[in-house]
Amino acid sequence: ILFYGRGKCSTCHNGPYFTDFQFHAVAFPQAGFGKNGFGVDEGRYNVTHNPFDRFLFRTPPLFNVTKTAPYSHSGSVARLEDAIIAHFDPLRFADPGKMTLRERADLLERLGPASREPLPASLSDDEVRAIAAFLAMLDFEKNLGPHR
Ligand code: HEC
Repeated sequence: ILFYGRGKCSTCHNGPYFTDFQFHAVAFPQAGFGKNGFGVDEGRYNVTHNPFDRFLFRTPPLFNVTKTAPYSHSGSVARLEDAIIAHFDPLRFADPGKMTLRERADLLERLGPASREPLPASLSDDEVRAIAAFLAMLDFEKNLGPHR
């Protein structure tokens, strides 16, 4: 109910593969060198060069998601619960005092496009756990595969 209701997950994670195959901005932490260097990955913009596409990434399918950590375009998030939290509370993973000026500027820029998205309002830790338990059901071998 949370996934389809207040969590608004199905706005983007919908259809047979739990993805709309569209590009959206979710301010996941960046990690590593990044496609654009210095830890920055501008996402879809690197393909289209349309400024509106900066920091957009394709909605990933969610089947077998418990087996596909680490999460997001950068693989910066190890826990499934944190991948859910990153949608509505990206600042939880940021420690501005320990970030470089470039990293802070990048985060600030990515919060803009994310604020245009129909992302879920804050969910409690219990609600996040409930959604993670639902996602764990989307497992081919356990629930959907031919070998029961
Ligand atoms: C506005 C569209 C949108 C909504 C709403 C949304 N997501 Fe996402 N989700 C994305 C995009 C885009 C990514 C990938 C972002 C990236 O790679 O930086 C993603 C990534 C994820 C991931 C990581 C999967 C992986 O393989 O890396 C999980 C898990 C996830 N979403 C679950 C959820 C849940 C649960 C909700 C509801 C609480 C939700 N999403 C709401 C667009 C959305």
